[in-house]
Amino acid sequence: MKRYHVTTFGCQMNEHDSERMKGMLEALGYGEAPAPEEADLILFNTCSIREKADSRFLAHLGHAKRLKLEDPERIVGVGGCWAQSVKDEVFERFPFVDVAFGPGQVNKLAEFLTSDSISAQGFFEFEGFTGHLPDKRAREFQAWVQISVGCNCNCSYCIVPSTRGREVSRPHGELVEEVRRLAADGVREVTLLGQNVNSYGRDLRPRATFAGLLRDLDTIDGIDRIRYTSPHPKDMREDVILAHAELAAVCEHIHLPLQAGSSRILKAMRRTYTRERYLERVALIREHVPDVALTTDIIVGFPGETEADFAQTLEVCEEVGYDGAFTFVFSPRRGTLAGEITEGLVEHEVKVARMQQLVEVVQRRAAEGAQRFVDRELDVLVEGTSRTDPSRLRGRSRHNKAVNFSGLASPGEIVSVHITGASSQTLTGELSLLAGVSPR
Ligand code: 5AD
Ligand code: SF4
Repeated sequence: MKRYHVTTFGCQMNEHDSERMKGMLEALGYGEAPAPEEADLILFNTCSIREKADSRFLAHLGHAKRLKLEDPERIVGVGGCWAQSVKDEVFERFPFVDVAFGPGQVNKLAEFLTSDSISAQGFFEFEGFTGHLPDKRAREFQAWVQISVGCNCNCSYCIVPSTRGREVSRPHGELVEEVRRLAADGVREVTLLGQNVNSYGRDLRPRATFAGLLRDLDTIDGIDRIRYTSPHPKDMREDVILAHAELAAVCEHIHLPLQAGSSRILKAMRRTYTRERYLERVALIREHVPDVALTTDIIVGFPGETEADFAQTLEVCEEVGYDGAFTFVFSPRRGTLAGEITEGLVEHEVKVARMQQLVEVVQRRAAEGAQRFVDRELDVLVEGTSRTDPSRLRGRSRHNKAVNFSGLASPGEIVSVHITGASSQTLTGELSLLAGVSPR
């Protein structure tokens, strides 16, 4: 049997796409190899969001080149956003690569592998949903569901619209069917994926809405938890917020990317909301879902960001008190508006210093906020054993907090955990003896 190995970089959409690549390869009769050294087909699913993502991948590609020299029969394939952003150039720069494809043509990999001429071929159309391919899930009780592909936003720093194309939604009925099938297959938590999930359905005829999709998915027996990522603050309307308050399966967690706390910088980023409007959304969320966990993405050092602009980012973080944040140093990307800016660039040392300050505020506020969970009983979906202490278990609360706890339970069970401690990143606790366990 031929064997494949996939290395995945980047976001959850890429993790989803890799599961579909694996499912497709297994349908073709391939088996998974534990390491690239043991594989006949070495695949990379790449990311290009920041320069660091490019360089990490290029280091891996060097290793694949050596493996290919050892055994020229091996096939090296490069898929995903980096491949899309360089397209056919990949074969000039890396002649040992056999096949390259963008996120819109993962299906072409099968065509390539079954064709007669296995020589440099590239596939870069925006064509289909990877969500249509068979899947191979990392955990049987959790699944990604791709609700749309592409992005119609114009964020000036972001490479994604060029790597994933215009936004196209999958039909509402098809998604409901898919989640029903997943539930029948043992899935109890789904994470809906899209570049901008809450603009879902505007391109469909008849039109569909994201809130309507949440409502229909919530009624499916066996689905205990619905998550999604990422929404855009400009499209975060009351109907979606109410879904969190009213629907049993929709979790009390919203990832709401801020990017910057200064309206001037938000304008330069082309985010189409102001600091005030963002804070209004947060207030509306908290009004309807008081116990919600909020997380965010923030970029520091965008061109032209002054100390005063940055101070406003810190202020928003103080005010919102996020439960967690992904923080990034601005990285100029090819083909983006902000990547072309040559004036007002923020010096590296300044970016690093701002990042340190930001992380300090985010972590302090997250640790403070996490104290609200202490002494509560939280439902935890068990994922496995604790990474630091194998005698303990690890899972996630509905707020998406990692919980390490003592007691006996199996992966896939939802158990009640009495929380005894909280830090910025994790909660600790013990299995509650009083409350019931919800087996699968
Ligand atoms: N530089 C730094 N961070 C970026 N992001 C997107 N593009 C860039 C860039 N050029 C961040 C944003 C986005 C997250 C996925 O990555 O915060 O929400
Ligand atoms: Fe995901 Fe963006 Fe990276 Fe593409 S570039 S893999 S969409 S994070």
